[in-house]
Amino acid sequence: MEKREFTIAVLPGDGIGPEIVKQAVKVMDAVSEKFGIKLNYKYALIGGAAIDEFGVPFPDETKEVILSSDAVLLGAVGGPKWDNLPFEIRPERALLGMRKLLNAFANLRPAKLYDELLDSSTLKPEVVKGVDIMVVRELTSGIYFGIPRGIFVDGDERVGINTLRYYEHEVERIARVAFEVARKRNKRVTSVDKANVLEATVLWREVVEKVHEEYQDVELNHMYVDNAAMQIIRWPKQFDVIVTTNIFGDILSDACAMLTGSLGMLPSASIGGKIGLYEPIHGSAPDIAGQNIANPIATINSAGMMFTYSFNMPEVEEAIDKAVRSVLAKGYRTKDIYSEGCKLVSTEEMGDLIAEEIRIG
Ligand code: NAI
Ligand code: MG
Repeated sequence: MEKREFTIAVLPGDGIGPEIVKQAVKVMDAVSEKFGIKLNYKYALIGGAAIDEFGVPFPDETKEVILSSDAVLLGAVGGPKWDNLPFEIRPERALLGMRKLLNAFANLRPAKLYDELLDSSTLKPEVVKGVDIMVVRELTSGIYFGIPRGIFVDGDERVGINTLRYYEHEVERIARVAFEVARKRNKRVTSVDKANVLEATVLWREVVEKVHEEYQDVELNHMYVDNAAMQIIRWPKQFDVIVTTNIFGDILSDACAMLTGSLGMLPSASIGGKIGLYEPIHGSAPDIAGQNIANPIATINSAGMMFTYSFNMPEVEEAIDKAVRSVLAKGYRTKDIYSEGCKLVSTEEMGDLIAEEIRIG
């Protein structure tokens, strides 16, 4: 019997976090009714909200809530109010702590352009229409973690060092995630490396090839990162799943995101451990916090990914996606995606509309 009850750690964070997370919860409530799933929400503080209450960005109470949940939905953290704190206790520090706690080694960043928002992109409509890319970024190793690292004195000058390092098992597990994801999509994986220059990515390429033997139904090609950067801008529709190292994925996923031009629409999932983490790719947008104008769709779509990747219910993500599409098709827009002739709605209204669409859909 399929599991029908889940506990979700809900961490609104600060800035626009609480406003947008509230809309995602509305949508999850609608999903819960529609699909007959029981969802238990456990709220906890993180980031600036936790600093204000406990003096630390990632309190033990919050860790306990996370570890006793099936998945985590996060809003966003950070803002000028806390910018003068030492790095160790700034809101953003909580994000690193959480990724580590969850052992979330695979970061999934879809970049999908809705037809209704074609004019949000700065690229030509014929180039971006129908773009639907999933970037699978390795998140817990590579040059961001390799040692030796630091700034050292060498003779009469200083030298800055970081180390690109991948173990076979680290490549193997991320490759596996990419092929599994591709199987549920268009069955094409592009592995991005710099194997003409970097030995660590020669190993990367070899291991990806090896794992591919188990996924012969998925097409695999390799691309150097500089060429990949060009191809993403030139003809993005050639890509289905892109799998790559931590640093290349950091950069390429932002490039892919901007193909769509709508920061407020884009979700993410960080998976690999027992508990998945789901959050919008944007930050806490302090410039518009508390005004009820933020776009909640990135967070709603992140909740959608949770149903696919943590609860194995892709039909729920599809239902959420369909609801978002029909609300957009009816012409409703938050301020960030507004264009002439559309109906401007608030954060709350957008949440209500999508939840309602799920109930009637
Ligand atoms: P940001 O993503 O918060 O905002 C960039 C611009 O996009 C702003 O003009 C903002 O108003 C707009 N925007 C972002 N999300 C939106 C939404 N849902 N609807 C409408 N407009 C939206 O990035 P920024 O300004 O660089 O960072 C602000 C704070 O957020 C900083 O403290 C930063 O460290 C933190 N941050 C947190 C992240 C997280 O919690 N995962 C990720 C990125 C930044
Ligand atoms: Mg980044």
